[in-house]
Amino acid sequence: MIRSVVRGFGASLPKRVMTNREIEEKVDTSDEWIVQRTGIRQRYIAGEGETTASLGEGAARAALANAGLTPADIDVIIVATSTPDNTFPATAVNIQNRLGMHHGAAFDLQAVCSGFVFAVTTADAYIRGGLAKRVLVIGAETFSRILDWNDRTTCVLFGDGAGALILEAQEGSGTTADRGVLTAQLRSDGAHKEKLFVDGGPSTTGTVGHLRMEGREVFKHAVGMITDVIEAAFEATGTTADDLDWLVPHQANRRIIDGSAKKLGIPLEKVVITVDLHGNTSAASIPLALNVAASDGRIKKGDLVLLEAMGGGFTWGSVLLRW
Ligand code: UT7
Repeated sequence: MIRSVVRGFGASLPKRVMTNREIEEKVDTSDEWIVQRTGIRQRYIAGEGETTASLGEGAARAALANAGLTPADIDVIIVATSTPDNTFPATAVNIQNRLGMHHGAAFDLQAVCSGFVFAVTTADAYIRGGLAKRVLVIGAETFSRILDWNDRTTCVLFGDGAGALILEAQEGSGTTADRGVLTAQLRSDGAHKEKLFVDGGPSTTGTVGHLRMEGREVFKHAVGMITDVIEAAFEATGTTADDLDWLVPHQANRRIIDGSAKKLGIPLEKVVITVDLHGNTSAASIPLALNVAASDGRIKKGDLVLLEAMGGGFTWGSVLLRW
């Protein structure tokens, strides 16, 4: 059977790092509170000329170089983002053009913080359905541009950045020994819409709006939703937490990551944590974390890697893949 195998990875971050100390000067908060409650120590913030498309382009170029491929080798580009450069066209066509690519198809996908998991799942369906041989999957965000910088309950949490994977059709045997995506589990429930949303949009206010979150409410649901889709991935593949080499979670809050790992019996040595470096970069957080752990040699070819995310909507999901 056809499997969607990781052929390359890459990432791109804005030039500017913003520490917790700098945020102390903007709102009534402290480095101590932010570290204790979230694990975040710094985040990257896009400056003039840096946009979701420019960061996405950087991640795409890095992934192409890592794979030894050129844009001519890509059939489809999927960009997971909630912070597009424009309401339309899609940031994906912007990135496609920046790459000098004028063939194939490019589109955006919006599932907020679960966007990258949804995009990898979509790419896998395209590849296994025979619609594409190679898909460039990008998670790219500039959440700093939709934050209310006077709201200490949200502005301390988020950051900007982009990460990318190239998935390629390769023949597999149909067992969990195959490299590539082994299962994907996606969920959403719009009943929770008001707990994490942006209070603007083209068809309501005609403005971009700002991110609003009932943090405690989101937190309350997070661990249960994450463990639901992880257990579903184990069940679908007949694997267990013991088989995992790496858990690469969405990086929203260190306490959510620790709580989910503990509930699932996954030791923290097997969990990739980058929330301290990047903050919550929404759809970019998983590919940014993958880039760190694959670049420093932790994630190796053949490793069993579990991705999971939960975010606005609510949306949540997991992808189990062999690297
Ligand atoms: O990526 C999408 C999914 N999003 C998430 O996963 C986020 C989920 N939620 C969270 O991570 C946490 O709920 C937060 C980090 C947002 C907040 O942590 P918490 O432990 O739930 O704190 P809280 O909201 O219960 O607030 C505790 C106290 C409050 O003061 P009082 O009412 O106890 O006097 C807040 O006003 O902390 C106060 N507070 C702050 N203090 C200093 C809230 N924000 C800040 C701040 N600095 N930045």
